[in-house]
Amino acid sequence: MGHWVFGYGSLIWRPDFPFRERTPARIRGWTRRFWQGSHDHRGVPNAPGRVVTLVPVVDEVCDGVGYLIEEDVFTHLDEREKNGYVRHDVRLEFADTDTLGVVYIAPRDNHAFLGAAPRDEMAAHIHRSVGPSGRNLDYLLELAQALRELDADDPHVFDLERRVRSLESRTKAPNAKLSGR
Ligand code: SIN
Repeated sequence: MGHWVFGYGSLIWRPDFPFRERTPARIRGWTRRFWQGSHDHRGVPNAPGRVVTLVPVVDEVCDGVGYLIEEDVFTHLDEREKNGYVRHDVRLEFADTDTLGVVYIAPRDNHAFLGAAPRDEMAAHIHRSVGPSGRNLDYLLELAQALRELDADDPHVFDLERRVRSLESRTKAPNAKLSGR
């Protein structure tokens, strides 16, 4: 039978689990925000990075992908998403049909929740953070690229991407100059 899982963050571009199908999907009433702390993937316990969670907003939609997985894949996903995420039931909309599935959401009351901050602070935070899965910046850039490939609009993500790219080009500039000599 299988189960549908909706991915809206790293699950879109880094599916490290077996699936039967992967297809663009949308959910309603939620919006993506870089408001969750990452102590285990894109940061470390004393310097957590910032990754996405979903925040409830009436009339908003969130675009991502749906994966059709076997029941036992949840063991892997629960482990991967253990830093504050819990499973929620959700209705996934595909191009021409819809179905029930689950999504991993890090709610406001979880221990790693960071919440909102000014965009330039969030960008600087993402730009400097690193964890066992790599640079926090790469998480953001991979997500933005994956959303472009899905033709999905997300002003929050694309604005942070622009700010982080600008920080990156400023820090890279001196080296670029040197190597150009
Ligand atoms: C997801 O991708 O659906 C959850 C958040 C993440 O792992 O980045």
